[in-house]
Amino acid sequence: MRRKVTVVGAGNVGATAAMRLVEKELADVALIDILDGVPAGKALDLMEAAPIEKHDSKILGITADYGQAKDSDIVIITAGIPRKPGMSRDDLLTTNMGIMRSVVQEIAAVAPKAVLIIVSNPLDAMCHVAFDASGFPKNRVLGMAGVLDSARFRAFIAMELDVSVENVNAFVLGGHGDTMVPLPRYSTVAGIPITELMPRERLDSLVDRTRNGGAEIVGLLKTGSAYYAPASAAVEMAEAILKDKKKILPCAVYLEGEYGIQNLFIGVPVKLGKNGMEEIIEITLSDEEQKALLHSADAVQKLVEDMQRLSG
Ligand code: LAC
Repeated sequence: MRRKVTVVGAGNVGATAAMRLVEKELADVALIDILDGVPAGKALDLMEAAPIEKHDSKILGITADYGQAKDSDIVIITAGIPRKPGMSRDDLLTTNMGIMRSVVQEIAAVAPKAVLIIVSNPLDAMCHVAFDASGFPKNRVLGMAGVLDSARFRAFIAMELDVSVENVNAFVLGGHGDTMVPLPRYSTVAGIPITELMPRERLDSLVDRTRNGGAEIVGLLKTGSAYYAPASAAVEMAEAILKDKKKILPCAVYLEGEYGIQNLFIGVPVKLGKNGMEEIIEITLSDEEQKALLHSADAVQKLVEDMQRLSG
């Protein structure tokens, strides 16, 4: 049976995610946006690339008709405004929480069995909105952040050591913000911990660059934020679910006591399979790492409280 993924938001992240989904023939895609013509135009353009790219996945662009998301296996939500230079992800809170709530209500009504992959910022807070607005169980509400942040860290490690990106594994936990927690101890090149491969100062500078990875791109683009790597990250999560791969990836999920954190979405390693998040993997953290994770959780908690205040 053909699988179906809906992508909400036909901006750069959404359209690039749609492109990767169809080019990998993972599913047919419904690309939905409120803009008139844009989703249809991008979808048609991608369909016209299909004979050259050699795929038979279909993609349909839709304006504001959530009925077309009916029975999706996965819904990737990228809707919302992106950052401008100088803005933090948290500055987007008020606008994007309204957008997220209305999108998720529409989606939940037509695709009640879908797994939601949230991409809009501020990421962890938007997961809370999606969780509340959908009423879905926690295994079907996931946030994309850790895969992106880890990919950035991996790219920087590969550049620094001049090795294949395929040799580099890395983990970044915590919220998708300045407090994220890259874990050098669990980051390896061909199985060798990176702590043995470069001096502490170099490692610290790669950790800093990872934390500021999103802002670095915003500063260069000036009119928007990153999209190639965010789209790749969301599609890796979707692929793990569609193929029931049982792949362990860092994702924002709802914690209920794991890592000493209660009732909060934050990035931790999880196993992804056909049911969405199938297991939260609890790795042992050093005191310093645990402290950094709790500090990151505090930052997310503050945003959640801001949202509660804003929605009265
Ligand atoms: C970034 C934005 C998408 O990290 O959060 O680039």
